[in-house]
Amino acid sequence: MIAAMPQPAFYIFKCQQSAPPGMPKPSCVSQNNPESQELFGYMAQQLMTKGVMGTVQPIQTSCLGRCQQGPVMLVEPGHTMYVDLTKEKIDRIIDEHLIGGKVVQEFVIPEEFWGEPTDPATMAR
Ligand code: FES
Repeated sequence: MIAAMPQPAFYIFKCQQSAPPGMPKPSCVSQNNPESQELFGYMAQQLMTKGVMGTVQPIQTSCLGRCQQGPVMLVEPGHTMYVDLTKEKIDRIIDEHLIGGKVVQEFVIPEEFWGEPTDPATMAR
């Protein structure tokens, strides 16, 4: 019998949206924040170094709708939205959440910006 290819333990959706220069709206990748331009590459490199690339699957996305709190990324499963990211925070998220299994609560989006998920049964009008 052939063993099925295992699913990743986590998917990370990293917002890579970049507003054009001069746009007043904030964006997760910004010329005003040089570190924001390096976060995805840094995260991928750290996942490889720690031997969990593949087990953790990083994905580049466009806007996740929480631009004011950017740079942001969503970890699934769990709907965990991490905000105001830096390389240091990414290090801790990898070690404590993705490897250690414990959400890093201090980096999670405040509740007023991230209420309960919408119930699909109530979505259709
Ligand atoms: S630009 Fe990243 S959440 Fe909107």
